[in-house]
Amino acid sequence: MAAPSRDDPWSVVDMINLSPPVDCTKPYDTSTLARKTILITGGASGFGAAFARHWAQYGAHLIIGDVNDRVREELVAELRGSPSATQDQTDQVALFRTAAASSPTGSIDAVVAGAGIVERGNQPNASSAGVFDLSVSLDTDDAAGPPPPPALKVLAVNFTGVTYTTHLALFYLTLSPGSARDRHLLLISSIACLSPLPGQTEYTVSKHGVMGLFRALRGTAWTTGAIRVNVLTPYFVDTTLLPKAALAPLAGGAKAELEDVVDAAMRLMADEGIRGRALLVGPRMRVVGVPCNGDDAVGEADGGFKFVEGEGGREGERRQAVWEVYGHDYERVEVFVWRYLSMLNLMRGLRGWLGLVRDLWGIYVTGWRRI
Ligand SMILES: NC(=O)c1ccc[n+]([C@@H]2O[C@H](COP(=O)([O-])OP(=O)(O)OC[C@H]3O[C@@H](n4cnc5c(N)ncnc54)[C@H](O)[C@@H]3O)[C@@H](O)[C@H]2O)c1
Repeated sequence: MAAPSRDDPWSVVDMINLSPPVDCTKPYDTSTLARKTILITGGASGFGAAFARHWAQYGAHLIIGDVNDRVREELVAELRGSPSATQDQTDQVALFRTAAASSPTGSIDAVVAGAGIVERGNQPNASSAGVFDLSVSLDTDDAAGPPPPPALKVLAVNFTGVTYTTHLALFYLTLSPGSARDRHLLLISSIACLSPLPGQTEYTVSKHGVMGLFRALRGTAWTTGAIRVNVLTPYFVDTTLLPKAALAPLAGGAKAELEDVVDAAMRLMADEGIRGRALLVGPRMRVVGVPCNGDDAVGEADGGFKFVEGEGGREGERRQAVWEVYGHDYERVEVFVWRYLSMLNLMRGLRGWLGLVRDLWGIYVTGWRRI
C-alpha cells in the first residue's frame, strides 16, 4: 500500500488545518515570545519552572499556577525582574481570570497544562507493599470487607485536572481579541502514553488519556478560534516529580535532558505555524548520516549530510533527542471521522453565509441600530 499523503482523498489534514511534520533541525523565530501571555499550570517546579525561566528571557508575560505555594512564590519573586509574573491559586477558574486580568493585552495567548503527579506509596489507599494506588493487599480476604475504593488522585490531577484546564483554555484563548493573534494550548503527556510504565498504572492511564485528548482535539480545535494544540511526550527527566527509586532502574542507561524538553516546548510555543503535532523528547541518540553529494534538499542545518538512520558510515552524525509521534493520524481516516469533520466544515461555511444573510436582513428589512 502506498504511503498515506495529504493528496489522499481520505486525508483530512488540510481540512483540520494540521501543519506538516515538524523539522526539528530548522531554526525558529524566538521573537514571537515577546508578545505572549502564557499561563502554566504546575509551573512552580520542574518543566513548568524551566519553561517560565526560559520564556521570561524572551519577554513573555508568565502566570504560574501551582498547589505548592512556597515554591511558586519563590519563582514568581525570581521572575519579577523580567516583564512580570503573577502567582495564583489552585482554583483553575480563578487562575485563568487572574491571568487575563494581569495580561498586558488583556488576553491569554498560550496555556501549558503541566500539572502532574505520580503514584507514591504514601497515598491513602496504597497497598501493603506501599507503592501503587490501584493494587490491593494480598494479606486480606473478602470476609474482612471489600477493599476501600482507590484514591484515583493521579487520574484526578493528571487527567481530570488537565481536561478541565483544556476546557478553560479553549474558552479563554478564544476570548483573545484580534483575529491574527496566536492561540496555543500545549499539553504535557509522557513516554507513558506511548509505552506502558508497569507499577505506574494510574499514571500510564492518565497520560494515555492526555494523548487521547490531544489526538481528538487536534481534529476539531480549528473550529474554536483557530487554536493550535500541540503535545510533548517526554521520557524520564530528573525533576521533583520522580522519587529517586524511579530513576534507579535507569542507572547505566540514559534519561532525557531538561534542556531538550525546554527546547522542544520553545519550538512549539514560538513557531506559530506548528499546529496539531506531538513531540517525543527522549535521551540524545546518535543518528548516522551519509554525505549529501550536492543534494539541494539538504539544508545547512544538516551540515551537508543526509542523516539516514542506520545507513552509511560515520561521516555525518548528529545527536537527536526530539522525534515526532502520531504524525499520520489524520492522513488517512475511516468513514466516520471523514464524514464528521466534513460536516463540521460544512456547518462552519454555512454559519458564515447565515451571518451574511442576517446582516443583509438587518440592513434592508429591520434596519441596523445606528450608534
Ligand atoms: N519528569 C519526568 O520525567 C516527566 C516525564 C514525562 C512527563 N512528565 C510530565 O511533565 C509534567 C511536569 O512534571 P515535572 O517533571 O516538571 O514534575 P514536577 O513535580 O517538578 O512539577 C509538577 C508541578 O505540578 C504541581 N502540581 C501537582 N499537582 C497540582 C495540581 N493539582 N494543581 C496545580 N499544580 C499541581 C506540583 O506542585 C509541581 O510544582 C507532569 O505532567 C509530568 O507528568 C514528567
